[in-house]
Amino acid sequence: EIDAKVQDLLAKMTLEEKIGQMVQYTGFWDVTGPTPSEGQSKRKYEQIKKGLVGSMLNVNGAERVRKMQEIAVNETRLGIPLIFGLDVIHGQKTMAPIPLAEAASWDLEAIEKSARIAAIEASAMGQNWTFAPMIDISRDARWGRVMEGAGEDTYLGTKVGVARIKGFQGDDLSANNTIAATAKHFAGYGFAESGKDYNTVDVGLSTLYNVILPPFKAAVEEADVKTVMNSFNTLNGIPATGNKFLQRDILKGKWNFDGFVISDWGSAAEMINHGYAADLKDAAVKAANAGSDMDMESYAYVDYLKGAVEEGLVDESVIDEAAARILRVKFELGLFDDPYKYCDVAREKELLHHPDHHAAVLDMARKSMVLLKNENNILPLKKGQKKIAVIGDLAADKDSPLGNWRMSADANTAVSVLEGLEKYADVKYARGAKLLNDNNTNFFTELDVNETDKSEFKEAVQLAKKSEVVIMVLGENAYHSGEARSRSKLGLPGVQQELLEEVYKVNKNIVLVLMNGRPLTITWADEHVPAIVEAWQLGSQSGNAIADVLFGAYNPAGKLPMTFPRSVGQVPIYYNHLNSGRPTSDAIFWVHYMDEEVTPLYPFGYGLSYTTFEYTDLKVNAEDAEAVTVTASVKNTGEVAGEEVVQLYIRDRVASVARPVKELKGFEKIKLAAGETRTVTFTLTAKELGFYNNNGEFIVEPGTFDVMIGTNSAEGLAGSFELKQSL
Ligand code: IFM
Repeated sequence: EIDAKVQDLLAKMTLEEKIGQMVQYTGFWDVTGPTPSEGQSKRKYEQIKKGLVGSMLNVNGAERVRKMQEIAVNETRLGIPLIFGLDVIHGQKTMAPIPLAEAASWDLEAIEKSARIAAIEASAMGQNWTFAPMIDISRDARWGRVMEGAGEDTYLGTKVGVARIKGFQGDDLSANNTIAATAKHFAGYGFAESGKDYNTVDVGLSTLYNVILPPFKAAVEEADVKTVMNSFNTLNGIPATGNKFLQRDILKGKWNFDGFVISDWGSAAEMINHGYAADLKDAAVKAANAGSDMDMESYAYVDYLKGAVEEGLVDESVIDEAAARILRVKFELGLFDDPYKYCDVAREKELLHHPDHHAAVLDMARKSMVLLKNENNILPLKKGQKKIAVIGDLAADKDSPLGNWRMSADANTAVSVLEGLEKYADVKYARGAKLLNDNNTNFFTELDVNETDKSEFKEAVQLAKKSEVVIMVLGENAYHSGEARSRSKLGLPGVQQELLEEVYKVNKNIVLVLMNGRPLTITWADEHVPAIVEAWQLGSQSGNAIADVLFGAYNPAGKLPMTFPRSVGQVPIYYNHLNSGRPTSDAIFWVHYMDEEVTPLYPFGYGLSYTTFEYTDLKVNAEDAEAVTVTASVKNTGEVAGEEVVQLYIRDRVASVARPVKELKGFEKIKLAAGETRTVTFTLTAKELGFYNNNGEFIVEPGTFDVMIGTNSAEGLAGSFELKQSL
């Protein structure tokens, strides 16, 4: 039915109007004020009135969106509504933890709910579309955008991506509180060379098919994602935006994607810098022909596509297809039935910062924390614990917990760690060192990561001396990670490491709370500090969640979605690497560094609890023709109830394309009372046991498989089985 409506409408449209659907502009004037009367703004405004613009991004708020939509609906010849997009990455007003943190929960239900809440609030502010989730797999902590993804693993990343898309899009896309999602960035963006944002991506076919593409395939086939964003990078020499192999052959061809592809900001024009397009016209031709349906802010389509069609450089069918895809999503969203369905100011008021949303992000924040170390059970702190010092700029910071990519969040509105702790105990605070750059609110302002002022050390050290326990909140501020926030050093920015060491000299009873958007090389802290909690950037309820964990109201159960390196030289470091011909052993020629250990600081999947778990009884049944079942018993051997993410890994020992030493293929988060035992069962089918060969074909090969069930990627019960036939 929708297809018929799309075709009907398309038949009425001029070539220019069809191309108009393929154009997206960012908000360029305050739509509640006077209309633009000169320059570029006037030109864009006139284009909207002529129906030459299909979408806007960064127009936010029910009233603003309504006013903009009125222009499209009332003043254009065909009254086609605009689709409004925004980067709703981890919340709209009520901020959830950054996506990397959420992934550490391994709790798909909670993650889906978090995206649902973001969609409810974003749609209440007029949005129909989010440029999320980012489902780029990344193995490089230097890349600032790891904060926005689900980490290094394809299996976990796929599950998390699907959950997020379902959360945004809900069961009924035409409802007024669901929004279209975007699987981004297609493809390879997370593999930027040296972790430098926007850099070259050169990857082999096996990595492309087995690591990078599967989350996108699942986004299309399992979650029915409505849009896909291509990326800034080249992939093996071809810019993603002009990449026909990715967009036409794989996405729209093999996977039958029926939504539309949006470019990244200016990525069509950037093909000129890449040395792939001669000029903007050439960029328009190459991007459109390669299947990039909508142009975000390159001005390539709006200015050149019509001429390109007239010259025969782009076939009109390419335009028809792109416009049809875009219109289809607009129909699916119900924008033609009611273009103002997301523009209800009363609803906006009622839903933003709704208490239920805050309760959900608090839950999500607690679930996202990872206990990295807890010597002598220094944690949890006792409720009546006396003489607690709190040190660190981030402890009092109400802004950094909101993380980067928080387009609509109100600055300085998170519950700080200090505020959270004050609800439990009478704490004393000293900043110790200034971390924040005063001008930190601008998305692209360069930040000083190397501040050297130690003048406040003395006060902090004195406070630590008088205290029984010292909570140090150290790490990155909101803008140390995110887009264009690559770092060559992964230690604590500024003088925080020195502060930590100075405090340690006078009081070793330190609980280090890390606030950060990426893995950090906290090797010294791991050796010296008795307790470390990875608290990422946890959103609006950050301080409450952290205090709940530190005082034991919540027993942490998060597991790392990315390996933590010991030093930057180890990066990229990831658990599911291939074996080398000279693997790590006691021989001299191992694959290793002379000056660094072979192991990471914390492996993928690692995280402790206030209780302990014992794994026994690994059993494998490979007799069934359809599937292999693997079971193990897990016992809570401690004194308190706790949750454990039970993880299953496999290794295909011999294959026609070498397979990694370990691959996550299942996990289950279970809750066990003290002393309770549960048997956990995993089923391995062709989907888990197969892989893509270098022709992009999915195959399952018989042979020996190793299997491991454990508490992280480095520890567990090991077994093996023979797969007698291809499943
Ligand atoms: O969605 C983003 C993308 O991830 C990076 N460039 C800008 C886009 C729109 O804001």
